Order: sequence, then C-alpha cells, then structure tokens
Amino acid sequence: MYRTHTCGELRSDDVEQTVILCGWVDSTRDHGKGLFIDLRDRYGVTQAVVLPDRGEELLAKSKQIRNEFVLKIEGTVHRRPAGQENPRHQSGEIEVHIDSLEVLNRCEVPPFLPSQPEMPGEDLRLKHRYLDLRRRGMQTTLELRSKIIKTMRDYFEEHQFIDVETPILGRSTPEGARDYLVPSRVHPGSFYALPQSPQLYKQIMMVAGYDRYVQVARCFRDEDLRADRQPEFTQLDMEMSFVDSDDVIGMVDGLMARLVKQLRGVDLPLPLPRMTYDEAMRRFGHDAPDLRYGMEIEDCTDLAAEAEFRVFRSVAEAGNFVRGINARQAADRYSRKGIDELTEFVQHDFGAKGLAWFKVTEEGTLASPIAKNFPDTLLERFKERMGGEPGDLILFIADSWDTSCRALNGLRRRLASELKLYDPDEMHFSWVVEFPMFERDEETHRWVAMHHPFTAPRDEDIRQLKDSPEHCRAKAYDLVVNGYEAGGGTIRIHDQAIQQDVFGLLGMSPEEAQGRFGFLLDALKYGAPPHGGIALGIDRVVMLFGGLENIRDCIAFPKTQRAMDLMTEAPNTVAKEQLKELGLNLAQPPAQNPTKN
Ligand code: AMO
Ligand code: AMP
Repeated sequence: MYRTHTCGELRSDDVEQTVILCGWVDSTRDHGKGLFIDLRDRYGVTQAVVLPDRGEELLAKSKQIRNEFVLKIEGTVHRRPAGQENPRHQSGEIEVHIDSLEVLNRCEVPPFLPSQPEMPGEDLRLKHRYLDLRRRGMQTTLELRSKIIKTMRDYFEEHQFIDVETPILGRSTPEGARDYLVPSRVHPGSFYALPQSPQLYKQIMMVAGYDRYVQVARCFRDEDLRADRQPEFTQLDMEMSFVDSDDVIGMVDGLMARLVKQLRGVDLPLPLPRMTYDEAMRRFGHDAPDLRYGMEIEDCTDLAAEAEFRVFRSVAEAGNFVRGINARQAADRYSRKGIDELTEFVQHDFGAKGLAWFKVTEEGTLASPIAKNFPDTLLERFKERMGGEPGDLILFIADSWDTSCRALNGLRRRLASELKLYDPDEMHFSWVVEFPMFERDEETHRWVAMHHPFTAPRDEDIRQLKDSPEHCRAKAYDLVVNGYEAGGGTIRIHDQAIQQDVFGLLGMSPEEAQGRFGFLLDALKYGAPPHGGIALGIDRVVMLFGGLENIRDCIAFPKTQRAMDLMTEAPNTVAKEQLKELGLNLAQPPAQNPTKN
C-alpha cells in the first residue's frame, strides 16, 4: 500500500494510529531533538519527525533527504507538544513519528522551490511548470477552476441544457481575430481553421431543434496578447431558442448567483444592474466599466466653450469634448512630478494631447498653472460641475470623443488602483446592453460588426439598417465584472434576408457571403427558430473569483505574451518530410527555435 492518508488529512483524532503517507519534501529542519520533515501533497502539509532514538539506519537514510524528494513514510500519529502547533496547516496539531522511510524518487536541485515565499520569475515558472504547479497558489486556483466548471455544468444541466461538442477542425468563424490554420494533407493547399468560438455550430444546433445547448469549449484566436487574453482559452458557451435578451441575461444572472453562493457563501442580489453602452461610455469611457468605485466622467464642454483658455475653447468649438474626473482627496497624493507622470501616461498610452488639472484648495478655490486663464466665476462653475471639495484633484482631457473615453478610462483605472479605491476581494457584476451593431474600421473606413455578423439589430432599429447603420443598436449584452468583460452574447439574426443585408453592409458581396457562410444562409432557410446565447470566458471568471491579475495564473499550461509554451517549446519547427507531405513550402527558413529568442 502506498498511503493510508493524504498529507492534509490527519487530525488530533488520529493520534496513536499507524499511518503511511506519500508526498514531496517541502522542507527539512535538523534540530537536536530530531530531523523534522514537512511532507506535502496537494491536500496539505504534515510534519514528520525522525527521532534520534530510531536507529542508525533510519537516521542515515533521513540525512540524504533533500527538498522535493518523493517519500513514503510510515509511523504513528502524535499530538504536538503544547505551543508547537502550527495553525497554518490543517494537520498542524499533530506530527508523525517516522518508523520507516522510503525514498520513492530523488529530485535534482530545483531552479526554485514550490515552498519559497518569493515568487520565481515567470519564465522560470512556465518552463518548469511541474514545479510551479506544486505551489499552493496554483493548486488553489486549479481547484477553484474545477469547482467553477462543475458548478456551471450542474446549473445548465438542471436547466435542461444539453452538452454538445463541436469540431475543432472546421471552417473559419469570425470573432474579430486572426485564425489559426491547420493544413490538410488529404487536400493539399486547403486548410482547416481552429474555431475562434463555436458560434455557427451552436446556431446550427438551434436550427436542428436542440433548444438549449451548452459546451465548455476551447477557442483559438491569433491576436495580440494581454494580461487578460490567451491565444487558446475556454468558454462556457451556451445558446437558447425562443428567447430574447432578457431570457439569456436572466439565465446568466442565476448562474452568477449560484457561483457567488457556492464559492463565497453570499447571496447576490438579482437582477444584476444593467446600463446601456452609450451610458457606459458617457459615464465611464469604457464598455466594461469598473463599478466598484465612483470617479465618474463629467462633461464640461459647454463651460470650456466659454473659456479664454485656448486648449479648451478650440476643442469645444471644433465639436470635440472637454471631460473630466474628480479624484477625491487625491490632491496631496499627486505632486507636480506625479501629475507629470499621469500626463505622460495619457499621452503615451492613449494619444491624448495633454492633461489639464486643478487642485481644490482649503479655501475651496481651484489652483492650477492654467487657472489664470479662467475668470473666477467660470472656475467656480467647473468646480461645481465636478463636485469639487477641498483636497480633491480634478483632471480634464480635451479631445475627440474616442480619445477622451480612452484616456479618462485609463486614468480612472490607474488612479483607483493607486488610491486603493476598492477592496480587491469585492466583486461587482453588471450588464452592458444595446451595443452599436457596427463600428468603423479606422484604417479601411469599412463597417465592421461590433460583436459578430450574426447579431440581430433591435426590432425598432431594423429600419435603420440600410440608411444609417451607425444608429443601429444590437440585441447584445456583455457581462462585466470589476472592469473586465467576463462574457458576451447576442440574440441572433434568424431571418435569412436580414442576414444577407448585414453581410452586404459589412462589404461582402452575395457571392462572397455564399462562399463563406452558405451553410448558415442555407440553414436559415430551413426553419430557423429565434435564438440567442452567450459565452463566458472561463479563464477570466476564474481570474475574477480568484482575485488574480493575470490570466496565465488561471490556466495549467498557458502561453506567454509571445504565444509560446516554454515547457514544451511550442511552436516549433517540423521535419522537411512533414512539410512535403502537406504540400507546404516555407517562404523563409524557420528561425532556430522560437522559444529561445
Ligand atoms: P466573445 O468574443 O465576446 O463572444 O467571447 C466571449 C468571452 O470570451 C472571453 N474571451 C477571452 N478570454 C481569454 N482570452 C481571449 N483571447 C479571449 N477572447 C474572448 C471573454 C469574452 O467575453 N461567440 C461569441 C459569444 C456569443 O455571441 O454567444 C463570442 O465568442 O470573457
Ligand atoms: P499648452 O498650452 O499646450 O502648454 O498646455 C497647457 C496645459 O494644458 C498643459 O498642462 C497641458 O498638459 C494641458 N493640455 C494641453 N492640451 C490638452 C488637452 N487636449 N486636454 C487637456 N489638457 C491639455
């Protein structure tokens, strides 16, 4: 028998039992009173002791033990002497007095110790992921992830959803990123695309009459990576028939309440609050606003138009915007140098032209190098609009709508983090609804779908589809948690003619639409029910419930910012024969080994 208990199982009730434990050596301490070994597995840590009177052979064996050796120990459970209990470990009341010990495997000196308090460098962690995954933090996150997925699956099963797998090798599904392609050997020159999401398959399932579909689905997107994005990620993907936005939102509300109850033991008040896209942009400058704190954007363009100050007036006269935020009681926290850094931040990261600022003095006046450009009465009105109180720091961006949104959102998030305006454990859930159907691509000036081209316009906006697409709002909804988009979905177009129109608007000729999405257009002709759904980013949901800041910490084997797996060294070159078999010629010789540069 390898073990009778795990390393997190023994309690004071087990005293005097003979037990066998297996695990990794977390640490050793050689006291005069014996050699202490902390033995670890994923359930916990148990202290074991080789007492000096247990014979030479055992002592000699125990002297060879190093960190991360794999041991099997046999011994008896003893209560620890009073005052020596370790409340950090669940088995901290007891220790095991070792009678025999077997080294099941040795460990070379590892590049870092799973038990070390300081975090090893991320490259090292990813290269030796088996060591990193031994860390308690990673174990907790993967347990949380497993529990979240189980809760989701249970919830949807209770609501009559059927779990259906859809292909990984398929046709391109547009979600706005580049595709990962897989060359076909059987059909040289042809490629499968890995799914950016199961979008079209789940719609086809609705046409097929499976009115409630769910899947834990792997998605692949070749896009620029960030702290909350991976090239390969997992969605909780669902679709329902005979529903409108409210039904899908309600179903997800219930799921969030279930998760919060199960994971945090509290009741989430439902329905979750909703806000339109326009309101979110106006008040927060972003479509996934962090609502754990205020610092809302106020529009002062009308006041700016009255000002002598060239920067403000010219922007207002050109039809652009002067908007600001009030960082309460932050005037003392930001010196001239601190404000210069904020200015540099909005200029460099968001292309703003500058940052105008005022500090509200003890006397209640606005102090700033630019204050002299404003009459006192106007300053007073700015202060009132911004709700300025003594000690506040008020910041303005004068720019186009888009730039002011981006810069103020960036400032809002940065200031909230620097001023610690939120409790990192708090979770705030909300919905952003009624997104625009389309946005202009900045380079090509073409219309592109804001969600994806299968999204239905609001009933009252269908008429606008052809003449003023910019005013057309979608039946779209995003779930927002702590300033992150945790999920997004829409009601779909189930009318073939409207789908054709939308493809046309997006610049696709009927032939092109037929070529790429003929199967969907066909399916819509064969009795497609009204339907809609949503996908939640599971990695992001884990990140948010786990209070983590990096999506890579929520995935067992993630990729780096440069889309590489440092452990397996993927992507990698392949043999010439393999390329030949696939009918592929490389235009450039491959780089030596991409994981090494
Ligand atoms: P969308 O593209 O909004 O919608 O994706 C849904 C959710 O998936 C997560 N997500 C990501 N997570 C990690 N890394 C990424 N690169 C990444 N991209 C997206 C986000 C996002 O909210 N088919 C539609 C859903 C639908 O309409 O039903 C879709 O995929 O949390
Ligand atoms: P200038 O007259 O360009 O030196 O700008 C005077 C002050 O206004 C500086 O503090 C700038 O950072 C600020 N400023 C300049 N352009 C803008 C802008 N577009 N929005 C907000 N503040 C600005």
